[in-house]
Amino acid sequence: MAIPGDPAPATSNGTSKTHGHRPDVEYIRKAVEMAGVNALRVALYQVTADPELATIPITRTKIRGGVLFDSVLSKKDEEVVRRKAVEYLTNPPKRVPPPPSIDEAHKLMNLFAGSCINDNDIAPGYEELAFDQFPRGVSWSSPSTPPEARSKFHVLIIGAGLSGIATAIQLKELGIPYTIVERQAGIGGTWLWNDYPEARVDTLSYLFQYKFEKRYPWVDFFASQPQTQEYLQHVAEKHGILPGVEFDREVVQARWKESTATWEVTTIHQKTGGQCTYTANAIISAAGLFSTINKPDIAGIDDFKGHIFHTTGWDHSVPLEGKRAAVIGTGSTGTQLTPALVRACSHVSVYQRTPNWIASYEGYDEPVPDHVHWLCDNLPYYWNWFCYAAYFRSLDLAALQVRDPEYEAKGGHVNERNDGVREALTAFIKQKMAAKSELIPKLIPKHAPLVRRLVVDNGFYNCLLEDHVDLVSDSIDCITPSGILTKDGVQREFDVIVLGCGFKTSKYFWPTEYIGVGGVRLEDTWAKDGARSYLGMAIPGFPNFFSLYGPNHQPRGGSLYSWAEIWARYAVGSIARLIEQGARAMDVKAEINEEYQARLDEANSKLIWESEGAGYYVNEHGRQGVNMPWTTSEYHAMVLGPNLDDYEIS
Ligand SMILES: Cc1cc2nc3c(=O)[nH]c(=O)nc-3n(C[C@H](O)[C@H](O)[C@H](O)COP(=O)(O)OP(=O)(O)OC[C@H]3O[C@@H](n4cnc5c(N)ncnc54)[C@H](O)[C@@H]3O)c2cc1C
Ligand SMILES: NC(=O)c1ccc[n+]([C@@H]2O[C@H](COP(=O)([O-])OP(=O)(O)OC[C@H]3O[C@@H](n4cnc5c(N)ncnc54)[C@H](OP(=O)(O)O)[C@@H]3O)[C@@H](O)[C@H]2O)c1
Repeated sequence: MAIPGDPAPATSNGTSKTHGHRPDVEYIRKAVEMAGVNALRVALYQVTADPELATIPITRTKIRGGVLFDSVLSKKDEEVVRRKAVEYLTNPPKRVPPPPSIDEAHKLMNLFAGSCINDNDIAPGYEELAFDQFPRGVSWSSPSTPPEARSKFHVLIIGAGLSGIATAIQLKELGIPYTIVERQAGIGGTWLWNDYPEARVDTLSYLFQYKFEKRYPWVDFFASQPQTQEYLQHVAEKHGILPGVEFDREVVQARWKESTATWEVTTIHQKTGGQCTYTANAIISAAGLFSTINKPDIAGIDDFKGHIFHTTGWDHSVPLEGKRAAVIGTGSTGTQLTPALVRACSHVSVYQRTPNWIASYEGYDEPVPDHVHWLCDNLPYYWNWFCYAAYFRSLDLAALQVRDPEYEAKGGHVNERNDGVREALTAFIKQKMAAKSELIPKLIPKHAPLVRRLVVDNGFYNCLLEDHVDLVSDSIDCITPSGILTKDGVQREFDVIVLGCGFKTSKYFWPTEYIGVGGVRLEDTWAKDGARSYLGMAIPGFPNFFSLYGPNHQPRGGSLYSWAEIWARYAVGSIARLIEQGARAMDVKAEINEEYQARLDEANSKLIWESEGAGYYVNEHGRQGVNMPWTTSEYHAMVLGPNLDDYEIS
């Protein structure tokens, strides 16, 4: 069947999972039965222009306890859409309409939403729909840029996670030379070293993926760590960026040299300890937010005689069967890995300092049936709308984070919807823990939902019901050579202690020491209240330096892959403009940055993240330095491309 856009469905081995499959009508019916029916409706409308499909009303229904909403049709209308889809697919026409323009797509987005979407949601939505091969590609303003100017400029990318990969692909497309320096032995970043049991994404894979890679045949709806790592390897290989990566090298210092307008970068080899220096015209740091582990400051931690490891350094040579294990920390990581410990060990103690809100995610742990792959490969544009549906849902998160002063004055928490989520998630805890109701008060958080990242239920509550599992909520006094002593005087003995204690998220770019114009150390510029940067990406006094997933850069909706593409577009676009101007350096103006920071603080003050119970979003100065306060569409508009007036160009 003809599919517009990318003609060859991609898989890790380069062939479609369902390519060439000739289904009978029963197979088609089943595939259609499994479809996201609103996505099916819009895709079908796009290829048939059947007016009946356009008049079907859409309502919104709560999912995940009201954290998100789904756009749904009545049962009767669902049947109509499915019947029409089966008819289309059993006798598909040879010709398929071309991908829509942005104006045409706008109308289709309205159709999808069942109402008019906001003007500023059109451009980001169109990119998410990914009708173009490279929806966020950077191009030269004019084909006349001299090739020698392009090839003389060298960019150093720090980090080969999903952000570094997106950046390298952009640079390669433009023909700008680059080197990626990565301290690990392979690509994947987070998804390489977080290989603890049951590590898995908590964002639907049809959202958590690049938009230039079409119809990837995900094995699970929420990809496991190995699947995610395989995906990143596949993309890196397909785009030929691996030869540009230097592994096992940690960047420890970067010094701006004014006379040459270059960065002098020092790395240390992780295995040999050897030093190496690089000279680069620009640095794009894709060093990640979760790159520095938090080794907890617990007395006696180095004296434990059994096995003890952080979740990023899981010792897979240690057999867990029959062992007594402890897990310290009940964030996303500790919660996610607990079931694996509980299945294997003779006894598990879960040390919880602060309870988190935990929700059940639809489709979590479920494999993607072949029928779904077949539909993505065979119904033109279905994949685009299926992915868009996940994106569209994610936008609803932002409203939960906005304080409603009137509602709070009446005694509510945050806003009415947020309180509704609190109620629903509290009911979930009570329902799950009915058989051990004495634990319920310990498990209900005091903080509002979304003050921290929501945790996915991977069977955590079920584990706590097991006889060989205990929840320890008393404070830890110290780790002894044989176990853990809590402040209530109880010593528990363990063979294995897992440190699910997270990361030092406020230590941006650590351990790299950046020395900018006039010998100023970056860390000193942050002494007042922690890391800050213009748009999350540029810092005055540190020319030709861009960061991805930098300070206040964690988005409020969408997917991090898409943001990495958007950030890369800004950083690489800036470099392209610099080259085109024949200039050497761009440095964001101090007053532009100051004005931006004031706006950021003001916007942040209306949101929930500095509330009681805040976790790693808040730095040691008490300031929320991780999340951006702008909504997806607001921030998207700010970083479509660089405004060169914001920069001193020299
Ligand atoms: C266990 C876990 C699960 C997660 N799950 C999700 C999820 O489901 N959905 C979601 O949206 N987000 C999730 N996240 C957040 C996740 O970090 C991002 O989604 C994403 O992987 C970030 O990609 P990145 O390329 O920006 O950074 P990273 O993946 O962290 O990559 C940064 C790379 O830079 C390298 N590096 C850092 N400093 C240096 C240096 N000085 N020198 C050389 N190399 C350096 C690191 O070794 C690393 O390879 C998760 C995070 C963790 C820890
Ligand atoms: N895809 C997924 O499902 C997934 C899985 C893992 C991680 N992630 C991502 O990675 C981020 C980090 O998750 P994370 O769980 O690794 O870290 P985290 O959310 O920061 O959780 C760390 C846990 O360790 C506890 N802790 C830290 N120091 C301690 C100490 N000294 N004594 C006792 N307890 C201590 C914390 O308690 P307090 O809360 O009291 O500080 C918290 O429970 C997540 O927010 C998410 O973005 C996603």
